[in-house]
Amino acid sequence: MTENRIAIAIGSDHAGFRLKESLRDSLGEMGYAVKDVGTYSEESCDYPDLALAVAETVAQGEADKGVLVCGTGAGMAMAANKVPGIRAVACNEPYTAEYCRLHNDANVLALAGRSVDEATAFAIADAFLATAFEGGRHQRRVDQITGMESQP
Ligand code: RB5
Repeated sequence: MTENRIAIAIGSDHAGFRLKESLRDSLGEMGYAVKDVGTYSEESCDYPDLALAVAETVAQGEADKGVLVCGTGAGMAMAANKVPGIRAVACNEPYTAEYCRLHNDANVLALAGRSVDEATAFAIADAFLATAFEGGRHQRRVDQITGMESQP
């Protein structure tokens, strides 16, 4: 096992709870430092609360990357993207996860607990976490996105 101290904040709502639990344990076994912000049961809860917790942990530099799981990944990505500095992407396959790191410097991955099987989710998370941002011309474009945060 490669010791890897990249810090990850992970969170889910009730729909993503089971996948979040599996991912948290697997990523921890892979050597990532994983902070689980909840939810901690399958009791119904509101996904924006968990998206905010993960997004703020990443935006404040307490984690390098965030992983969120809800039913579709969509609501989590929408909510996380309201936090300045966050570039969250809902991914259903590894290709998007790889390229949103290479080209978009995405820092939060959102997964669909109700439509993506566990093995695929692990492959998506692995692609996301193992891929570095390419920079270069892509940095200019990411800077343009960041610039939108301060537009009136
Ligand atoms: C919960 O039923 C569901 O709406 C939520 O997990 C998520 O899919 C929203 O985007």
